[in-house]
Amino acid sequence: MKARVLSGIQPSGNLHIGNYLGALLNWVRIQSDYECVFCIVDLHAITVYQPPAELRAKIRELAALFLAAGIDPRQSSIVVQSDVHAHAELAWLLTCVTPMGWLSRMTQFKTKSEKQETVGDGLYQYPVLMAADILLYQAQIVPVGDDQSQHLELTRDIAQRFNSLYGDTFAVPQTHLPQVGARIMGLDDPTAKMSKSAEGSGHAVGLLDDPARIRKTIMRATTDSNPGVDFETMGPGVANLLTIYQAFSGASDSEMLAEFTGLRYGDLKKRVAEMVVEKLEPLQAEYRRITADPGYLDGVLREGRERVEPIADATVRVAKERMGLYTAKPISHG
Ligand code: AMP
Ligand code: TRP
Repeated sequence: MKARVLSGIQPSGNLHIGNYLGALLNWVRIQSDYECVFCIVDLHAITVYQPPAELRAKIRELAALFLAAGIDPRQSSIVVQSDVHAHAELAWLLTCVTPMGWLSRMTQFKTKSEKQETVGDGLYQYPVLMAADILLYQAQIVPVGDDQSQHLELTRDIAQRFNSLYGDTFAVPQTHLPQVGARIMGLDDPTAKMSKSAEGSGHAVGLLDDPARIRKTIMRATTDSNPGVDFETMGPGVANLLTIYQAFSGASDSEMLAEFTGLRYGDLKKRVAEMVVEKLEPLQAEYRRITADPGYLDGVLREGRERVEPIADATVRVAKERMGLYTAKPISHG
């Protein structure tokens, strides 16, 4: 039997090349080796207010982007988190075994809560819901970008704590980071991670940006005061551009050195921009094709749910039984 993989992306903001290189591309690469569940985590998105009509549209947009990027729905299950009730149910069970101290240490909570006027409890519980997404499917491998490493660490802690309190119930998952592209930085500010919510047009390249806009954003990227590429002394902006090129092209370290050493920054940016445009064009064409047929998308999401629901329900029943909760038909006694 193939090992199971689970990962998710929030249907908020615009998907950018950081999401693609940190997560999606890796999903596509590994999907034939594992049994994969890829989740549109709308319950995570609402931890900060989302206008309902926008959220509804973003859920479909994200599903279409998964497909356009190359997720094969015959092989992998694409599911909307809120469409499978067990996610929310398991999250509550796990909340009850998670010490508040563990959650207070989450750096993403600290950064996100600083930006909010009122900090919802959901933002605090966010990583527990993420643990539920993963543990629900007994996933062994979770392919994500580097910013999720701490949440994965917490997921392992929660699984182990549950297992030690109630007996072996959950598989303890491993984090799977891409070799290149685990942390893409903002093009306007290479000291900050590229993020969906950052303001300003020079920050990120969106997966659906047109070629002119992609070129403009990359040509304006922050570099440093060297005259050209020097792998020994380069600053974070140049390193980020080279990472983007390498992750999209699949070039080896030695090929990168040979191709880019000494190149002037204007030429470097042109090379990077052309690579990004070339790689995103087929994805965008596929996206337009998929969104022209809304019925197809609905079918994919229904099939995904039907495939994963029995797995999710079975895990919740075992967890409930282990905790001593009422289950109408106890599993261990028939
Ligand atoms: P999010 O946008 O927070 O829903 O993230 C979805 C996925 O993209 C997660 O696996 C993140 O780790 C990954 N990701 C987000 N931003 C970046 C980035 N700047 N570089 C690499 N991966 C990222
Ligand atoms: N927290 C993740 C992010 O913002 C999204 C996410 C939710 C996720 N549930 C998950 C990622 C389960 C991997 C596995 O990037």
